[in-house]
Amino acid sequence: IKKVGVLTSGGDAPGMNAAIRAVVRSCAYHNLECVGIFRGYQGLIEGDFKDLDARSVKNIINRGGTFLKSARSKEFMTAEGRQKAYDHLKKEKIDALIAIGGDGTFKGAIVFNEEHNFPIIGIPGTIDNDINGTDYTIGYDTALNTVIEAIDKIRDTANSHNRLFLVEVMGRDAGDIALNAGIGAGAEEILIPEQNLGQDRLIESLRRSKLSGKTSSIIVVSEGDQIGKNIFGLAKYIEENLEGYEVRVSVLGHIQRGGSPSCYDRVLASRMGVAAIDALLANERDVMIGIVHSKMVSVSFSEAIKGENKLDMELIRVADITSV
Ligand code: F6P
Repeated sequence: IKKVGVLTSGGDAPGMNAAIRAVVRSCAYHNLECVGIFRGYQGLIEGDFKDLDARSVKNIINRGGTFLKSARSKEFMTAEGRQKAYDHLKKEKIDALIAIGGDGTFKGAIVFNEEHNFPIIGIPGTIDNDINGTDYTIGYDTALNTVIEAIDKIRDTANSHNRLFLVEVMGRDAGDIALNAGIGAGAEEILIPEQNLGQDRLIESLRRSKLSGKTSSIIVVSEGDQIGKNIFGLAKYIEENLEGYEVRVSVLGHIQRGGSPSCYDRVLASRMGVAAIDALLANERDVMIGIVHSKMVSVSFSEAIKGENKLDMELIRVADITSV
């Protein structure tokens, strides 16, 4: 291995820049050439490359987003697109790729590998934390902190007006952001796709807490939750079936993806970037770097995309007890 390409793909996540920086500097440390590929797999197809050295990645560890930019490439889903990507890699004499992204990125890597037998190491970067084989993904911790900061502010209004707020958070089909931020922000109820609470049990529970003296409530709703999917309909249903509360909906949206990465995400990204180059040099192929019990591990791409629910169900109990 002499020359390594690095790209970010799929939804951006805070800490991706720190991961790129670690990959680039790790290459410099090991005397490998490094090439940045812009706009993920789409830039690979178009040959949108730029040589990167240790100084090219100065002053980015603290920045959100990804300076290499990102995309969800439709063309890479076609065999022709992947062939173009392979041709560019060969032309540029790139021997291996580091792909930073989520499950779509790793699915793309699997197919590309099958067709072209090209070495790729993955780094999990997504706020959703929905990747198997790693306790944490880059960007998740920052997103959690963004969410609790936003809910703390919403709480001021909820409390001043005796209101019930439904706060929708991201996470795609995973409830990690909702459950953890919900506990951290002291939510009354947390609706996640991994557990179907049901509208009537929700109303029952809200009624009980009102009787116990609560005057306002925050309900955190994961975007993937079944009853939360129609969050405005849910708000109406609650208003019609529970007396005494005004209900408001707040959809946090893309503010959850932006902002300066937390220290945890910067350190995680730095460790994963270094581990990715180490794995490449140790001849590992087709793997994603993960963190399990605070240690770096390698997980096969097929394991990483399994989509298994890795939510710690003990947290549901914690949420239930701490919201009585
Ligand atoms: O995967 C990150 C994520 O922000 C999800 O939480 C969300 O469902 C999705 O991306 C939104 O994607 P887009 O920015 O393409 O609308």
